[in-house]
Amino acid sequence: MPDLAWWRSAAIYQLYVRSFADGNGDGIGDLAGVRAHLPYLAGLGIDAIWFNPWYPSPMSDAGYDISDYRDIDPVFGTLADADALIAEAHALGIRIIIDIVPNHGSDRHPWFLGALAASPGSAERDRFWFRPGRGPAGDLPPNDWQSIFGGPAWTRITEPDNSPGQWYLHLFAPEQPDFNWANPAVRAEFEDVLRFWFDRGADGIRIDSAALLSKDAALPEVTPDQPPGPAHPHTDRDDVHEIYRSWRALADGYQGRVLIGEIWIPDAARLARYMSPGELHTVFNFPYLSCPWDAARLREVIDHTLALHAPVGAAATWVLSNHDVDRIVSRYGRADTAFSLERRAYFHSLPTDLELGTRRARAAALLTMALPGSVYVYQGEELGLWEVQDIPDERRQDPIWRRTHGADPGRDGSRVPLPWAGAEPPFGFSPGEPWLPQPKEWRDLTVEAEAGKPGSMLELYRAALALRRAEPGLGDGPMTWLPAGDGVLAFDRGHFYRGPGVPGPGVPGPGVPGAGVRCVVNVSATAVRLPEHAGLLLASGPLDGELLPPDSAVWLRRSS
Ligand code: NOJ
Ligand code: CA
Repeated sequence: MPDLAWWRSAAIYQLYVRSFADGNGDGIGDLAGVRAHLPYLAGLGIDAIWFNPWYPSPMSDAGYDISDYRDIDPVFGTLADADALIAEAHALGIRIIIDIVPNHGSDRHPWFLGALAASPGSAERDRFWFRPGRGPAGDLPPNDWQSIFGGPAWTRITEPDNSPGQWYLHLFAPEQPDFNWANPAVRAEFEDVLRFWFDRGADGIRIDSAALLSKDAALPEVTPDQPPGPAHPHTDRDDVHEIYRSWRALADGYQGRVLIGEIWIPDAARLARYMSPGELHTVFNFPYLSCPWDAARLREVIDHTLALHAPVGAAATWVLSNHDVDRIVSRYGRADTAFSLERRAYFHSLPTDLELGTRRARAAALLTMALPGSVYVYQGEELGLWEVQDIPDERRQDPIWRRTHGADPGRDGSRVPLPWAGAEPPFGFSPGEPWLPQPKEWRDLTVEAEAGKPGSMLELYRAALALRRAEPGLGDGPMTWLPAGDGVLAFDRGHFYRGPGVPGPGVPGPGVPGAGVRCVVNVSATAVRLPEHAGLLLASGPLDGELLPPDSAVWLRRSS
């Protein structure tokens, strides 16, 4: 019987198609490239792939500006390629999660083109947020909302009769007009899109910008530092939950499908609401992703995460990086190891010790994969890639960089194409010039260079993912903190019983003696003695006898 709650324990690989592997030589990753490398992913030991958007798009925001939600962009391939890929992945036991962007479409979406051609007040315009401007000539935006990518959140159009026209809302780039979710046609359309992909075999949906969909139609100003929540005009408003209740009912009409929210809101109780029964299955753990390399802070965020999920019965997610944030090796090599989207320029201004960052990233991988719930691996994390901070300005693509006039370096540095093989760029990614330049130092971080090499990041990930899958105590289930000194995280996984034939995550029970896993992470500056154990399962780096050096982690076999 298939495990219908697979997502509670899954290891999910985030695949950024544009930068994964280029099958046709145009310098851009595509579905043919993915299909050719599915055996690599199967060998890595992941359970599912989350694909960043692969739909037809003018690519103003790397595919997060979608002009057709039911097809594949020609640069990536065809719908037939997607069907074949889904079938091939399923045959390898890999599930497929796709990215749906419901908050906004593309300014080339037929609905938006129709709205531009229609008149103010028309049904076509009501699918978006069109409003007259302020001031006698209407040449001021309807309000002062700012785009998350910089600049005003409104752009003025020219009416079909060439007169200066209405303004439309875009919480991101002007090429990404926001849909009006108060309009039933918008709701019906997206439900149909979900069915389209579920019917094609998608096992899950990652929901982009999930807290932003509902807006206050009165469009009141946002006051500085106004927290998201019911009184906020566009973030985490109460009625957004109705949308996810209907999506959940739809997903439940299929078997084993998962809804995953991308939700950046600080209030834990409000975040938990998205996972209440009948809504989303999981949400991304951004507090963990943003946490500095500091034992007390990590413990706090782990406890906080578990406390947040327990009452709603949801499984936690553990994420170290993604396509929007700095790569973890670079982060952990800086004097300030935190991260926030708003302060990227500051973080990039700090010197980076890549050796230190790599050591910590290895320890963090073992910590992350030992925690209860599902885990995400952002492509290239398994190779130890770092944030590329010296991309020449003329090669940068991210609208964040453009719209802030370079004040924010943007996200290109985490999206550089993967190095597969060979001694120089393009490292087997493509026969041609990759869409973003790769550092020549990545010759030591190619899949070819790391495969089979003891001590490589790739072999650490392979070993950890294999153990995580084999050990019944890892993945979903209980965890127990152990007493540990300052700067050390130590916990047990296990005491876990999965009855014969019982699907899903299992239930806490008497446990199998000697079967549990003990994880110890040394975040301090001095070596610490390992706790009692019955054997070493995996270490992030060399041990000094029974001493665990700084910035290292181990998985031990529990002795009882
Ligand atoms: C979140 C996505 O992860 C990011 O890459 C994108 O730019 C924004 N949403 C807008 O869609
Ligand atoms: Ca290509």
